Amino acid sequence: MRPWQFIVIRDEKTLGSLRDLIKSGRFPAPLAIAVCGAPRATMPDPAHWLQDCSAAVENMLIAASGLGLGAVWIGVYPMEGLVAEVRRLLAIPAPVTPMALVYVGYPPVHYRSRARCRYEDEKVSYERWQKGRRNWRKDWEKSQRANSAPASAIPVSP
Ligand SMILES: Cc1cc2nc3c(=O)[nH]c(=O)nc-3n(C[C@H](O)[C@H](O)[C@H](O)COP(=O)(O)O)c2cc1C
Repeated sequence: MRPWQFIVIRDEKTLGSLRDLIKSGRFPAPLAIAVCGAPRATMPDPAHWLQDCSAAVENMLIAASGLGLGAVWIGVYPMEGLVAEVRRLLAIPAPVTPMALVYVGYPPVHYRSRARCRYEDEKVSYERWQKGRRNWRKDWEKSQRANSAPASAIPVSP
């Protein structure tokens, strides 16, 4: 469904305002691309817009790297306050949601072609869930307590 809209930002004033706005995005990149989703345009489930836009961001990051550029994903959605501020700054209409910014720039020479592998064996199982793999239960319970969800909502681990 391609439920996305992109805003290419090159204006230094707007880039400066974005840097002021987003603490985690204070990079001096000369270009930012706001990746925005339009939930209603997505079928079969409106919630898929997030996956579509996330895939678009990831593809941009990979493409930028292939071009010898540096790029970083700056999260906007689902931080409501940030979504509202970015919407206001970029004049994004209400049905469309700014999901992320992709900053694109020129990496320092020593960063170029520096391939990294962050493979974690303990995060991979084969054929079915492997015993002993971290099941994230404690983290899940902690987040549920923080959100004061009823204990009955805790799922059974496989
Ligand atoms: C949903 C999401 C939001 C992110 N938001 C930010 C951000 O606001 N600022 C930032 O510097 N990096 C952000 N990143 C990038 C991560 O910090 C990190 O660079 C990325 O996950 C790759 O990790 P690695 O380069 O350490 O392997 C975000 C990544 C994701 C997936």
